[in-house]
Amino acid sequence: MAADLPDLSYDDVLRAAEVVARELPATPLQSHPLLDAAVGAEVLVKHEHVLPTGSFKVRGGVHLASTLTDAEQQHGLVTCSTGNHAQSVAYGARLAGVRAAIVMPSTAPAVKQDAVAALGAEVVVRGETLGEAGAAARELAARSGATFVCPTDPRIVLGHATAYLELFRQAADLPVPLAAVLVPIGSGTGAAGACLVRDALAPGTRVVGVQSAAAPAGWRSWRSGTIETAPATTRASGLATTTGYPLPQGILRGSLDDFVLVDDDVIDEAARLLATRAHTLAEGAGAAALAGLLSPGRSGRSGPVAVVCTGANASAEEIARLGAASPAA
Ligand SMILES: Cc1ncc(COP(=O)(O)O)c(C=O)c1O
Repeated sequence: MAADLPDLSYDDVLRAAEVVARELPATPLQSHPLLDAAVGAEVLVKHEHVLPTGSFKVRGGVHLASTLTDAEQQHGLVTCSTGNHAQSVAYGARLAGVRAAIVMPSTAPAVKQDAVAALGAEVVVRGETLGEAGAAARELAARSGATFVCPTDPRIVLGHATAYLELFRQAADLPVPLAAVLVPIGSGTGAAGACLVRDALAPGTRVVGVQSAAAPAGWRSWRSGTIETAPATTRASGLATTTGYPLPQGILRGSLDDFVLVDDDVIDEAARLLATRAHTLAEGAGAAALAGLLSPGRSGRSGPVAVVCTGANASAEEIARLGAASPAA
């Protein structure tokens, strides 16, 4: 890990989990026989979308809320997001009774902008991409005295890691150990958390990252070992990152077993399968882990596989595409 980045540990995750468990229920890890039949594998779905705000990201905001500095409590928080980190920080700020302004790109789905406002945070729409919104958020923080909360703030990463503490503890009861856990990657916080926990609890289980081929900055960064940027044209707003992020990349570099890119059409296909075979509404990013299983070359598994359904905040367009013709329907 680079000298200026914190070294996050499994013990840090355990401490974060105590905070998160006081506020949020554990989410189910469930099998769905129809899904297994469709995919041709034993699949366990970690249903993170049932959390308040509809995504695993709320874990980060809840943990953040418990660790605010005096300055953060006094001057409030600013962050940038396409939607689920936005709702997470808004949720955490409400919990802690502090102000939050969330800068969102104009391309962020309306349903996510509305959800942030409904949680009491100020929505500031700037730029078209997450990168542009991020620059505007940093400027706003500098002007207002509020703290800019990077979407990969260590407190956020540790909050997200608690999903994987739950998952690996739940999987410990399985008759056959998990062969792999597939995790969608945007900024990489969730996957970094999965690696931290897997390394401690289940070294035999592979952690596989899944990113949209239409937003491959994280994948490129992992492959090259340096932070890289790439255009993000994916329809899955939760995966629309335009750069690799140093903190999660530092963890993923040493720990992630594999990293696959999937086409947005395969993500849509996975969302349809979750809807029709697992009674689960997933947004694109929430279906991406399953999409990783559907991609060619994913055969040769020896044991059950967990996929994390990370979010349910589907846009109107995503919901409409669920009804489109597909071989799995
Ligand atoms: C539903 C959902 N899944 C996955 C991701 C990707 O998570 P991360 O940015 O931690 O890689 C996001 C990011 O916002 C998301 O909203």
